[in-house]
Amino acid sequence: MSILVRDVDILQVNGTPMIRSGEIAVENNQITAVGPAGCAPKGFKPQIEINGKGLVATPGLINCHTHAAMSLFRGYADDLPLMEWLNNKIWPIEEKLTEEDIYWGTMLACLEMIRSGTTTFADMYFHMNQVARAVGDAGMRASLCRGLIGVAPNGEEALTWSHGFAREFHGSANGRITVMLGPHAPYTCPPDYLRLVRDAAVELGVGVHIHLAETRSEITQTAEEHGCTPVQLVEQTGLFEIPVLAAHCVHLSDEDISILTRYGVRVVHNPQSNMKLGSGTAPVVKLLAAGITVGLGTDGVASNNDLDMVEEMRSAAFLQKVTHEDPTVLPAEQALSMATVNGARALGLEDGIGTLEVGKKADIVLWDMHKPHLHPMYDVAAHLVYSAHGSDARTVIVDGRVLMRDYEVLVLDEEAVMAESERRARRLVAEVG
Ligand code: NI
Repeated sequence: MSILVRDVDILQVNGTPMIRSGEIAVENNQITAVGPAGCAPKGFKPQIEINGKGLVATPGLINCHTHAAMSLFRGYADDLPLMEWLNNKIWPIEEKLTEEDIYWGTMLACLEMIRSGTTTFADMYFHMNQVARAVGDAGMRASLCRGLIGVAPNGEEALTWSHGFAREFHGSANGRITVMLGPHAPYTCPPDYLRLVRDAAVELGVGVHIHLAETRSEITQTAEEHGCTPVQLVEQTGLFEIPVLAAHCVHLSDEDISILTRYGVRVVHNPQSNMKLGSGTAPVVKLLAAGITVGLGTDGVASNNDLDMVEEMRSAAFLQKVTHEDPTVLPAEQALSMATVNGARALGLEDGIGTLEVGKKADIVLWDMHKPHLHPMYDVAAHLVYSAHGSDARTVIVDGRVLMRDYEVLVLDEEAVMAESERRARRLVAEVG
């Protein structure tokens, strides 16, 4: 598909100033021109022409940590202590999930993400072949891993399954799907198991996605059982020698931060999940100062309760400001970078996505700035982070394909996705009683 977006303000998120009334040309799945009006090649005849007046183009937002199918559990169990929430609510209902439930839960999540300007997500769940099917159908980009529980009776079998999944799906859907291995957390995956995961990741040439240092109880438990912190425990297994995406990293010592820095571990900050579950405040300012790549994620809907990355940017900025009692920390532009270019780095996809530049994949969001809550406008990044809503995403392009145009989702039957996922969510809740 060839596309020309003209008369559009462009935030490339590569450190350059905003381009006013510029244009973006897309051929096949790549950006072939981006710059001032007239930059598209002479004689370029696009199949789709989009008038960008009143719109701002940014790279698609990247949700670096979620469990998409948990959108079926939106609002099912709120305001509970973490272990009670998991033991009495989330784990019992997850037991009842069928493969088709996961497909429809992921479709609901994809629909919500497209509608709020997210083009890529990193997912850890199970029945990942169904998640891959949904990603394919929705036209999104995703980094997928099956959550591995080393202490479970099927721990090794799940790792073998992940091997096959990586071989089959890594680079599939025209390269939109990439695969990682997903050891759930150090407290569910003992050191010997993490060593097996490391060996498998080396063999497959893929990275690892793990929950790390999320709650204070994880820190206490690891200290009691192993006499060290979760970060130190993982370091001993050699897992950090491969690319690691570590979700949460809320409770870190200075020594932990040096370890993460030394190995180039990428961190995903999940401010709304950390706030809702009362987990604590991640030391994001310290991590950024140490030069660590920090992306942003929503975590699953059951602990958020939505997939709106615009809110996540705002929460990330506000949470650091209130914690440090300093309004200058984590400014808007940095929050926007975390949701785009740094997110791409966190997923190891920086060569393809994260900025609007020639040669990058065409993952583009056009934000509708003609709204009361966005007038007047002085600084676009500040508006996107502090004033906008995910629902201000007007047109969304992924891999050169228009998934939503002028608020109309073109790739999915929106009513059918909502009706089917609603029906399945109600059945699941009825089953657990
Ligand atoms: Ni999570």
